[in-house]
Amino acid sequence: WGQNGHRIVGQIAQGHLTADTKTALLPLLEGESLAQISTWADEMRSNPNTFWQKNSSRWHYINATSEQGHFSHSHDNSEHKETVSNILEGMHFAINTLKNPKSTIDAKRFSLRFLVHLVGDSHQPFHAGRAEDRGGNRIKVSFFGQPTNLHTLWDSKLIENENLSFTEFAQFIDTDNTQLIAEYLASSPQQWLLESHNLATQLYKLETDEISYSYIYEHTPVVKTRLQQAGIRLAGLLNKIFDSSATPL
Ligand code: ADE
Ligand code: ZN
Ligand code: ZN
Repeated sequence: WGQNGHRIVGQIAQGHLTADTKTALLPLLEGESLAQISTWADEMRSNPNTFWQKNSSRWHYINATSEQGHFSHSHDNSEHKETVSNILEGMHFAINTLKNPKSTIDAKRFSLRFLVHLVGDSHQPFHAGRAEDRGGNRIKVSFFGQPTNLHTLWDSKLIENENLSFTEFAQFIDTDNTQLIAEYLASSPQQWLLESHNLATQLYKLETDEISYSYIYEHTPVVKTRLQQAGIRLAGLLNKIFDSSATPL
């Protein structure tokens, strides 16, 4: 997602943290909110001559193979940041670092920043798209006559078209529905990516490359559901890591 998508996910998650989780996060957040730290992982990529500029772009996505449900990842080989080669390994790495009592505070701080970002990206359908078109980046479309691509349409155009601040957007799509929340939480990072992959498979079948009202009307609800799921699931993950007494809701 673009900046607003990530901030919306962070903002929704913030409202679903338990008191104990909030307390545990204080030293890691250093006065910032989950929305504020959510875009750090993208900002780091433009920091010249750093590990992150050279190595982290692959942390943001995964390309599925033709076989449904199987991603080309080497599973829990993600103990060191140097070995992370896709978003699933990135999430595992960040979760493991946050759980490990031996991790330094700096390692925990950047793992939290990455986790908030990557849970968001794992819900963007085209972050689990096809390798050959770079997750839709190479598929040209127009948005109300302006040239863009399918990936950017989903990262930001459909969100920006709503003309809401991230706090307004988060408020509009947040939910207290305990049934829905329980459903969202009963899934793993691998399943979130499979959901994204299945959505992308449908979304690659474009009826027209001229995107306007009818496409927006049909697909903005999907964007909203994915951002809502990401926010709830991020909170669920953080509560599980930081609050041993947290109930699943
Ligand atoms: N960004 C760059 N390459 C990508 C890919 N293959 N899938 C998704 N996002 C990408
Ligand atoms: Zn993207
Ligand atoms: Zn990203």
